[in-house]
Amino acid sequence: MPLVSLRELLDHAAEHTYAIPAFNVNNMEQMQAIMQAADAVEAPVILQASRGARAYAGDVVLAHLIRAATEVYPRVPVCMHQDHGNSVATCVSAIRHGFTSVMMDGTLREDGKTLGDYSYNAAVTRETVRIAHMVGASVEGEIGHLGSLETGHGEAEDGHGFEGLLTRDHLLTKPDEAASFVADTGVDALAIAIGTSHGAYKFSRKPDGETLAVARLAEIHARLPHMHLVLHGASSVPDDLQEIINANGGALRPTFGVPLEEIEACIQLGVRKVNIDTDLRLALTGAIRRVLLRDPAEFDPRRYLGEGRSAMAVLCRDRFERFGAAGRAPGVACLPLDEMARRYRAAPGA
Ligand code: G3H
Ligand code: 13P
Ligand code: ZN
Repeated sequence: MPLVSLRELLDHAAEHTYAIPAFNVNNMEQMQAIMQAADAVEAPVILQASRGARAYAGDVVLAHLIRAATEVYPRVPVCMHQDHGNSVATCVSAIRHGFTSVMMDGTLREDGKTLGDYSYNAAVTRETVRIAHMVGASVEGEIGHLGSLETGHGEAEDGHGFEGLLTRDHLLTKPDEAASFVADTGVDALAIAIGTSHGAYKFSRKPDGETLAVARLAEIHARLPHMHLVLHGASSVPDDLQEIINANGGALRPTFGVPLEEIEACIQLGVRKVNIDTDLRLALTGAIRRVLLRDPAEFDPRRYLGEGRSAMAVLCRDRFERFGAAGRAPGVACLPLDEMARRYRAAPGA
C-alpha cells in the first residue's frame, strides 16, 4: 500500500470520532513495533520523524525503513510525517524524501529556541502549505506554546525549545487566534497548547483542570469544529514503565504524564492526532534494562532489542485500541497524493 496523506487519515478519524496515535520513529525496532501492533488490530498509522531522528538514522535509511513498513504490512495505511519542522526548507526536504505530511512549527524561530510571533508563524506556515499542497502532502501548524502550566517553564527543561518563563497567556492557545491562524494559513491540522509538554516530566502530580486545560480545548473545538486538532506531549508516562526502569537500575524522578482518560476526553473534543514519543522510549529502555540486569552475561542485541520491540508493540496496540483507531484501516480509501493535490487545487479559494 502506498503512503497516504495525514489529511486523508484525519478526515476519516473525524468522520468516525476517533484519533490516531502519531508515534515517533528513529530506528528499525520502533518501526516494526508500531507496524506489528497496527497490523494486528487493523489500525491506520502515523509514523513521525523529528529532525533529530532524521539526523540519527539518516534520511535515506529512514526513507527505506518507511518503504519497508508499507511493503511488509501492505494492509496498513501509513502516513509519514515530519515532526516539528523548524523551517520551510526542512519541510520541503522531508517531502523530497517521501514524507507525505509535515509539521511547520513556527511557534519557535529556526534556531528552535527563540519564540516566533504570530506574523512569523503564519508566514512560514502559509508558505509551507502552498508548497506541500502542490504535491498533495499535508501540513500541521501550531499555535500557542507548549510548556508547563504548573511551573510556567517552556520546554527547554525537557531538552527542547524555549528556555525561560512563559505566562499562562502564552501557554494556552487562544481560540480566536487559532481561528485566524487557520484562515491565514490553510493548514490541514492544528497543534494546540493546553498544558502538555514533551518528555517524561510533565506534571508533578496527576493533572487537574488547572494544569491540563481541557476546558480550553473545548473552547477551541467550539470555535473550529471542523479543524483536526493535534495533542503534542501526549505520553502517559505509565507508572508500571517507570517502575520497570527504576527496579532495574534506572533513576527516573517521580512524575506524571497525560492520563489516558483525559486523552479520551480530548478525542471527543476534536483531537485527531495524539503525539507519543516518550512512552515508546520508556518501554524500550525498561525492557533493555531488565534483560541486561537479569542476565549480565547477555550481549546479543537481538535479545534485548527484541524484548524492547515487544514491549513497545504492547504499548502501541493499547493506544490504537484506546483511541478508537483499531479496526479502522480497512475503511481508509488510501488516495494517491496526486489525487490529494487535485483536490487542493479544486478547493474553493485555492
Ligand atoms: O518533539 C519531540 C519528540 O519527542 C522528538 O524528540 O527531537 O529528541 O527526537 P527528539
Ligand atoms: P511526548 O514526549 O509526550 O511523547 O510527546 C511527543 C511529541 O509531542 C512529539 O511531537
Ligand atoms: Zn511535539
